[in-house]
Amino acid sequence: MLVRIKPEDVEIGMFVHAFDGSWFDHPFWTKHFRIETAEQLLRIRNSSIDGLVIDQSRSSVAAAEPLSRAPVGRSAPSREAPLPVRREPMAFAAKAVPQRDEPRRKLGYNGECRRARQAIDRSHDAVVDMFEKARLGRAVEARRMVPLARAIGNSIERDAKALINLVRLKEKDEYTYLHSVSVCALMMNFARHLGLEEPVVQDLGVAGLLHDVGKVAISEAILNKNGSLSEGEFLSVKRHPLAGHALLESSPGVPKAALEVCLRHHEKLDGRGYPDGLRGEALSLFARMGAICDVYDAVTSDRPYKNAWTPCDALTEMKGWAGHFDEGLLDRFADSLGIYPVGTLVRLSTGELGLVMGSDGEAYEDVVVRVFFDCDTLAECAPFERAIAPSAENPRILGRDSPTFWRFPDWEMMRLELMAADLPG
Ligand SMILES: [Fe+2]
Ligand SMILES: [Fe+2]
Repeated sequence: MLVRIKPEDVEIGMFVHAFDGSWFDHPFWTKHFRIETAEQLLRIRNSSIDGLVIDQSRSSVAAAEPLSRAPVGRSAPSREAPLPVRREPMAFAAKAVPQRDEPRRKLGYNGECRRARQAIDRSHDAVVDMFEKARLGRAVEARRMVPLARAIGNSIERDAKALINLVRLKEKDEYTYLHSVSVCALMMNFARHLGLEEPVVQDLGVAGLLHDVGKVAISEAILNKNGSLSEGEFLSVKRHPLAGHALLESSPGVPKAALEVCLRHHEKLDGRGYPDGLRGEALSLFARMGAICDVYDAVTSDRPYKNAWTPCDALTEMKGWAGHFDEGLLDRFADSLGIYPVGTLVRLSTGELGLVMGSDGEAYEDVVVRVFFDCDTLAECAPFERAIAPSAENPRILGRDSPTFWRFPDWEMMRLELMAADLPG
């Protein structure tokens, strides 16, 4: 029997038949599955969907308070769908299932860093070579990028933090090339987190490597300029998506996803981007993903005109740029990295809830969380701060949590008060 329940009523053991609302609102892209982990549970409870359909006959627990018997084959309208995305991302996928050229054996963080270094260096050299050939007017050898994206994809599958941490640290003069490698890794990690199919993940990796090839049309002096650009220089920079797209269109074997990301990664959701000022639903999922990964890597890298932001600061700033990004997708991107903007409600491995207060060190996950609630005793506690750092002894952030689920009265006021509170030293 199919029943419809609220997201806050899901339990481990329930078999999900369908989600309400648009394809994009729900947190999984697989059609039917059993909820088996706390992470899946949290993702559903924290999503913006109105409800979901449970198949009672395939569930090991019963729905306590079903909203209704669900009509089979239909779903209820979404609470809000302000900026729907196109629903056919799979159309971009390559037909063949990509090969995997490396074993999945995990080597530990340091071992993976050594392997990731090799993948980064090979990809960097290939991107430099591609840019040099493109400057001479030669076609892009997209097929050469496929095994590089595959090696990067394999590395981040074993341990995403190793490669993503390494490639974030770039010298200023190698930015353009390593930025492409970084966007490749971020796109693949993000795509897997969204549950996209592996051929799409691989195509998006190639898209990351190729997305800025149009920069060959911009002089090095402008690319590496200290200080703000003149109007003419900015116009030159703004031509690179079109220049890159034209180059890729005339090159054989370039995945459609790469053409799309190359042309659209500087568009903004509110129409203030370039080259075409597209807005809202005109922007595909891949365009939105590209815009987020591109900016995230730019602001977390040292540039001639500014120092790098920490991942937490970067996501906090990006979250504040109204109209730039798809906000729901930006949250998913943060989840894909395990990094949360300041003010996010998170659950810790200690069973506590807290608010992310900001960065606290150099490492990827170094943040401070202000704890105020114990999920085991269901009681508030006097606020105190915990340092989150990548070590076995320290508590970890399990994921973002939902104030609605915990039924905190007037959550926004409570959040502001908690963040402003003076704690005893
Ligand atoms: Fe760009
Ligand atoms: Fe870029």
